Amino acid sequence: MSTAEPHAAQSETVRKHKEFLFPAVANYYQEPLALVRGEGEYVWDDQGNRYLDCFGGVLTVSVGHANPKVNEAIIEQVKTLSHTSTLYCNRPQSELAEKLAQITPGRLKKSFFTNSGTEADDTAIHAAKLATGRHEIVVLRHSYSGRSATALTAVGHSTWRPLPPQVAGIVHARAPYCYRCPFKLTYPECGLACANDIEELIMTTTTGAIAAFMAEPILGVGGFIVPPPGYFERAVEITRRHGGLFIADEVQTAWGRTGDKWFGIEHWNVEPDIITSAKGMGNGVPIGMTTATPEVADAYPGLTFSTFGGNPVSMAAALAVIKVIEDDDLKRNAAEVGRYLRERLDGLKEKYPVIGDVRGLGLMQAIELVKDRKTKEPDPQSVARVFEETRRRGVLIGKGGLYANVIRTGMMLNSTNDTVDELIAALDGALAMI
Ligand SMILES: Cc1ncc(COP(=O)(O)O)c(C=O)c1O
Repeated sequence: MSTAEPHAAQSETVRKHKEFLFPAVANYYQEPLALVRGEGEYVWDDQGNRYLDCFGGVLTVSVGHANPKVNEAIIEQVKTLSHTSTLYCNRPQSELAEKLAQITPGRLKKSFFTNSGTEADDTAIHAAKLATGRHEIVVLRHSYSGRSATALTAVGHSTWRPLPPQVAGIVHARAPYCYRCPFKLTYPECGLACANDIEELIMTTTTGAIAAFMAEPILGVGGFIVPPPGYFERAVEITRRHGGLFIADEVQTAWGRTGDKWFGIEHWNVEPDIITSAKGMGNGVPIGMTTATPEVADAYPGLTFSTFGGNPVSMAAALAVIKVIEDDDLKRNAAEVGRYLRERLDGLKEKYPVIGDVRGLGLMQAIELVKDRKTKEPDPQSVARVFEETRRRGVLIGKGGLYANVIRTGMMLNSTNDTVDELIAALDGALAMI
């Protein structure tokens, strides 16, 4: 049980944050939390309160806070060599690239490492343009890809876009969002209208030939939108017919998160030409990867460089994370505990009409809150209340969706049915209050 008694005292850290950081660096909760320590699935704030962390800093702490094996690898590497830049080879970078060639699907083989998901997606888009000689990119509405000019143009949320699109040639297809179908149809009678629409989008808004289709296997920031069966097969077939490559943005969905598979896209019968990832790959160290087929990687001409790309400390951390996932069978654990979590969330849906939809795969599960199940009017106010109430009960959760009405959970890959019960008890108590 929680020891949380929030709002006990004004945090000096929070006061300085409010005074000295860009106000756009927004925090969760009416009174933001200042975290000081983490261990396994739990974190502590600077008021001494303990919380079950069911969001992991946005699906990034994947194998537990301060995981001893990951920490050991980081400390050992810091003591040995902590920086090279990409101008020199380093062993952890070469070993990680080799490992990725083994565990990524299909013919993906060569990697370029960066510091973030934004850079990983930028690199993928540049690589696709260079490999195809074309410049137009299809992305999805409700997607998220980061903060650079290119990535922000690709983002499918006005809420995350402070400036108009800065990069030409990026067009947004309808999202495979069955709960709020953009065509008001129902699967499977819809005949995958959202995937078919990609063809019309290409034929009407591009030159007719594209460099790539970039999509998240499950739209993360969009509120864990899971495409229906057959969607990716159709979308990728259309993409290839128009000369494009398929980029799977696995920043949230990789490393066993979706259960049983290393990468989310492996749940569908398609092979990406490029995979990007970041977040959970490093369990909290800054990292990004772009892994491509040899043809795509080899078509990237001239010089390219990243000061911190392939940083040996980040690389050593990622190797340790992958080893923990393998040694502890965490892909299977994510599937099993994820199934239990899903059952319990479905149980809450029976009890509380405010839950309009439960969706996700593995340990990537969300609930969408609505004011009325018929009209599906989004209910961000209830999400805000559930946030405060779950915090009071010592549990941290995540938010998402264009309307901020989706509660996202991203529990650690090594979480258990017991901690799922702890999360559900907090959600149950919170939902009963609204
Ligand atoms: C799917 C996806 N792609 C890219 C990014 C950007 O990653 P970063 O914040 O590390 O730049 C994010 C971040 O949330 C993401 O969810």
